[in-house]
This record gives sequence, structure tokens and C-alpha cells, in this order.
Amino acid sequence: MTGWNLFGVLTVIVTLFALTAFAIAPNEVESLQYAIRATARTSFILFLTVFLATSFARLVPSALTRALVRERRYIGLSFAASQFLHAVALIIYIRTAPDSFWVGRTPATNIPGSIGYLMILLLTVTSFAMPARLVGPANWRRLHLAGVWIFAVIFAASFLTRVHQHAGYLVPGMIMVVAMLLRMAERFEG
Ligand code: HEM
Repeated sequence: MTGWNLFGVLTVIVTLFALTAFAIAPNEVESLQYAIRATARTSFILFLTVFLATSFARLVPSALTRALVRERRYIGLSFAASQFLHAVALIIYIRTAPDSFWVGRTPATNIPGSIGYLMILLLTVTSFAMPARLVGPANWRRLHLAGVWIFAVIFAASFLTRVHQHAGYLVPGMIMVVAMLLRMAERFEG
């Protein structure tokens, strides 16, 4: 499975996952919270796959890891679709239960996520040929490199700042930190 077919299948899986999370929660507010968490987690898996695709292919060369590198664009677009659902669930949540949403949050705590969404928009648009040509290859590389590192930091911070709620958040948080160190080490190697 490749290209837009892969994008379609991944997006259907993400949507089903979000709907299941929504359906199993005990009440309306928790349904929206479950859906927000579910879409954050599917986004994380898709993002990590793209972030580490080249490293995997170098460390464990195989047909699968080469396919991950080849299909990075479509997996990346599925990440954008998953984040779109995170935003949809968030908007409904903010309208349905504003008091619950703002517990422990200030407008300032929404700044990293908003920058994240701006980057998702820019990376999605420039993943198509015409906008990519307008931006030029050097700026395209800078933009996409900045984008993936911003997402990596947001994921690491989102998980690690929830460790006090549940120690299990340490697992995805540390996975993200180790993945970042791996990418940095590769850059350092040259
Ligand atoms: C302004 C934009 C954003 C807002 C307001 C926002 C809001 C939220 C909220 C309220 C939750 C907690 C849901 C709950 O546990 O009840 C959440 C979870 C999360 N969000 Fe977002 N988010 C935004 C953007 C992003 C972006 C851009 C990313 C990733 C690139 C992201 C990744 C996460 C992660 C990893 C979690 C934790 C999920 C879990 O509990 O496992 N968020 N977000």
C-alpha cells in the first residue's frame, strides 16, 4: 500500500480510533477529552515514524524501513489529518466545556500548540509541488526541519508535563527525548 491509498487507510484508522475513544467514555465532556487524547496519540505514532524513518533505514536496512522512507510524505500528511481531528475535538470541547478546558491553562499555555498548528499548515501546504517550488528547495528544507523539531519539542513537553498526573506518560516522553538525541547524534556524525 502506497501513496494516497496509504494516506486514506491511515486516516480511516485514526478516525475510527478517535470515534471509539469518544464512544467508550462515560459522559460527553470525557468523550471529548478521550478523543483529544486518542488523536494526540495517533499523531505521536505517525510523527515518530516520519521523524525516525531515515534513522531506521540506516540502522536496520530492510524492505519495510525503505518503504517508510519512501512513504514519509503520506505518513506525514496522515499526521496532519490526525492533528486536524485533535483540533476539531478541541474546538468542540472548548465550546462544550470551557470551564473544564481552562482548568490549569492560560492563553500563554496555548502558544506552543498554536505555533505547532501554524507549522502543520505550512508543512502541509508546502508538501504539494507548486507551493514547494515557490518556496524553493533551500527554504523548503529549513521550514520542514524547523517544523519537525517544533513538533518533537511539543510532544516531549506535552507528555513530560503530564507525568505528575500518571507515571505512564514517562514512556512516550522518554521515547521522544531518545528519538531527538538519536537525530542529533546523526547530525553530529555528519
Ligand atoms: C493550541 C493548540 C492546542 C491545544 C489548545 C491543545 C490542547 C490539548 C488538551 C486540552 C489536551 C489534554 C486532553 C486531556 O487530557 O483531557 C491535549 C493533549 C495533548 N496534545 Fe494537544 N493541544 C494543542 C496542540 C497540540 C499540538 C500541535 C500537538 C503535537 C504536535 C499536541 C499534542 C498533544 C499531546 C501529545 C497530548 C497528550 C495526550 C495524552 O494525554 O496522551 N497538541 N492537548
